[in-house]
Amino acid sequence: MTISRREALARSIAVVVGLGQSRPGFLSVSGIGLAAPALRRAGLDTEAVAASTEPPSAPQIREFALTVGRVRWELAPGEVVEAYAYNGQVPGRELRVQEGDTVRVRVTNTLAEPTTVHWHGVSVPQHMDGVPGLSHEPIPTGGTFTYEFVATPAGTRWYHPHINELAQTGGGLAAPLIIEPREPTSTLSREYVVMAQQWTKPGRPMTGGHEADETDRFTVNGKAYPYSPPLVVRQGERVRLRLINAGTTATQVFALAGHPLTVTHTDGNPLRVPVSADAVPLGVGERADVEFLASTPGRWQLGSVASGHAERGLAVDVVYEGHEADSVQKPTLADLQLVGYSAMTSGQLPTAKPDREFELVLSQSRTDPAVWTINGATYPVIEPLVVRPGERIRVRLINMSMDDHPMHLHGHTYQIVAVGDRPVAGPFMDNLTLRHMDSYDIEFVAANAGRWLFHCHNLEHMMGGLMTEVQYR
Ligand code: C2O
Ligand code: CU
Repeated sequence: MTISRREALARSIAVVVGLGQSRPGFLSVSGIGLAAPALRRAGLDTEAVAASTEPPSAPQIREFALTVGRVRWELAPGEVVEAYAYNGQVPGRELRVQEGDTVRVRVTNTLAEPTTVHWHGVSVPQHMDGVPGLSHEPIPTGGTFTYEFVATPAGTRWYHPHINELAQTGGGLAAPLIIEPREPTSTLSREYVVMAQQWTKPGRPMTGGHEADETDRFTVNGKAYPYSPPLVVRQGERVRLRLINAGTTATQVFALAGHPLTVTHTDGNPLRVPVSADAVPLGVGERADVEFLASTPGRWQLGSVASGHAERGLAVDVVYEGHEADSVQKPTLADLQLVGYSAMTSGQLPTAKPDREFELVLSQSRTDPAVWTINGATYPVIEPLVVRPGERIRVRLINMSMDDHPMHLHGHTYQIVAVGDRPVAGPFMDNLTLRHMDSYDIEFVAANAGRWLFHCHNLEHMMGGLMTEVQYR
């Protein structure tokens, strides 16, 4: 279906308006700076509307400033933590750009410790990747660094530090980075970003097990349920939720009471055929774009059905206009149909044999449960995956441990090409989550030279050594 430019703009206006309403708590802090470029682009000022019959604008340079600091943040009324924050807010400022734009972000560090920014899911050049020792020097106390990269590929991305992660990300530092396709394609009425965070107290014992520490708190868009700002919808609307697990250790399983979800994107990348499900599991770092039809007026809880997580804050209400006073319906746990990667298709089955193959077996050390291994080795004493530019690389991932491992590759997007031994034209991702005994083959093209981390995004596993590197030679 082709839609006119004007229609597309009208739709994106609705999207922007929806976003404005989605985070009322943030408008005073960030609404102006955040929304203005998007509003301009969406044609909300007269000049842009007049220009709306023009072909899509050329890529632009988009400049942003972020200050990293500490702030007293209220997770819930009376429950204040000494948070880490971008521009004094949690989650940090949403950056919304179009694919192909040049993004320039001047980051000032006011923390008493160094920090960096990693642009998760973006094909940035190596020296903009935010990994100390690999990409660039950390930004010292009082220092600034300007990140610059071309926004690609389009999709739901996010950003966070890549140093002292358990304290910094577990203390609030995370924010959405939305790269819109240059040509709007969607027929949605409304969109919300749903960023789930897990608050991890510094110095709490490493769990080494498969449950999040029972004292960790959760928030959605900065507040713990029932204080998370409700997602307001109108009957008849088609609504997109960009779900982001920006936590520290826990896999979340998102469900919306009373409404089946349709998964359209994995880690921001489009599926060929949307897949419907009652519940969508997301490991740490992983994203899913889901849609639902607002067909049943009321007040419905969207939250994690992972045990105890909604109770500790990981939920938000979807509220139909006029139904603010309804009593809330929670997702039922009986007969929940979870969506899995094996039900998802995208791209093509690979036709040629890969140029290079690796096998990575992920395990927990038998002697020390806080230590994690890849083929028996622990980062940094580990053999990197050495590749050459232009090669097609296949990696078999096998999870021999009891825990989930959300495996994130920096600087590249990969495709799932086998589930176990069964070849598939699977989804494109950068952060697939292997559950106990799962095995997947993934493929990517070595098209971004450098040294890139490939690691488990469970921050305890990562710090426990479940990490390797892809090195171009
Ligand atoms: Cu989201 Cu190595 O990071
Ligand atoms: Cu892991």
